[in-house]
Amino acid sequence: MIRNKCTSFAAVLLLALSAPSFAADWGFQPLPLKAPEPADNPTTAAKVILGKQLFFDPRLSKDDTVSCNFCHDVAGNGTDSRSTSIGVDGQLGGRSAPSVWNAAFLSSQFWDGRAPSLEEQAKGPILNPLEMGITHEASAVDRIASIPGYREQFVEIFGGDDPVTYDNIAKAIAAYERTLITPNALFDQYLRGDKTALNKKAMAGMKEFEKLGCIRCHNGPNFAGPVLPNGEVFYQYFPANRSEYDKLLGLQEDEGHRNQGSDRTPSLWRVPSLRNIALTAPYFHNGSVATLNKAVRVMARVQLNRDITDEQADHLVAFLETLTGEFTVQRPPVLPD
Ligand code: HEC
Ligand code: HEC
Repeated sequence: MIRNKCTSFAAVLLLALSAPSFAADWGFQPLPLKAPEPADNPTTAAKVILGKQLFFDPRLSKDDTVSCNFCHDVAGNGTDSRSTSIGVDGQLGGRSAPSVWNAAFLSSQFWDGRAPSLEEQAKGPILNPLEMGITHEASAVDRIASIPGYREQFVEIFGGDDPVTYDNIAKAIAAYERTLITPNALFDQYLRGDKTALNKKAMAGMKEFEKLGCIRCHNGPNFAGPVLPNGEVFYQYFPANRSEYDKLLGLQEDEGHRNQGSDRTPSLWRVPSLRNIALTAPYFHNGSVATLNKAVRVMARVQLNRDITDEQADHLVAFLETLTGEFTVQRPPVLPD
């Protein structure tokens, strides 16, 4: 058996302390039917409606061209399906847009895990010069507060004298995102007792996923590691082993969460979800891999130091295809004038 060289010691320590559910955390779990919500931002129907409008509103960008939905198409897979995203003025960012579907189940946001919650995450892109390009929180707030249809909703939902705040904009968007979940994938049906939900190939792929050791990192309900409190990140080294892919895919070009300054030290990345992974090509933080078949081969090689056969790759893909869940239809909302 190949030793897993890439375990993040911080994460292991933290997990060891978080017993007794420790053992169960490492296995497969169905995606819950409801996303957890923070005490200071309960999900309400009115807030979700407001959040959806804000998510779709390009007026939260400097030239009224880019909304969250522009890069995270919720009528589709929740991404822009590009290697790296294009923001205001046609500028190219450095990373690939992850899906917003099921982001509500992640304990940290972004490839490098730098945002501890959906609320904190939502505050980033509006002010990011490469994404929505507004220069100050106050200008985003002014834009929204100047629209009567928005002001009324903020008063209704948040109350107080001055309810249109940057925090409340982020809270509404996060509440909407918590409704973007895709339960009941074939694999969830399997886990809940329907042993016929997976065909032979997918079953073989599931066993391969366990045997090879993918499950050491991609476990828990979101296949993104064990369920952790918000802000705690299940980091792993990527690439954990040096290979020809470093050059071919540019895997050493982005430092991720941390790089200890030597070119031999791999970067730390948050373990991403594999839910709906068959729909969200291209893959990896830099979108450098176009197909799932190639992505699983790269993973086996760089994370587990294994070259897998065509058949093993096919089986893994068949298994990952059973992680595609049910999407609720997202129609574009009517935006206040
Ligand atoms: C120009 C394209 C673009 C726009 C506009 C944009 N995003 Fe993103 N989004 C990205 C990219 C790229 C990343 C990954 C960046 C990183 O990890 O450093 C990301 C990451 C995220 C994540 C983290 C998901 C995960 O798996 O970690 C969420 C949630 C998200 N965006 C929501 C939003 C919301 C809400 C808005 C609007 C306020 C928004 N995005 C606007 C491109 C965009
Ligand atoms: C040691 C931990 C670890 C192991 C083992 C591991 N992965 Fe990953 N996986 C990661 C990390 C970290 C990333 C994010 C890489 C990045 O930043 O681009 C990732 C990314 C992925 C992606 C791309 C996700 C996306 O949204 O683009 C796929 C697919 C994937 N892994 C599948 C697998 C499969 C299949 C196996 C087993 C052959 C496996 N992984 C083994 C940690 C691991």
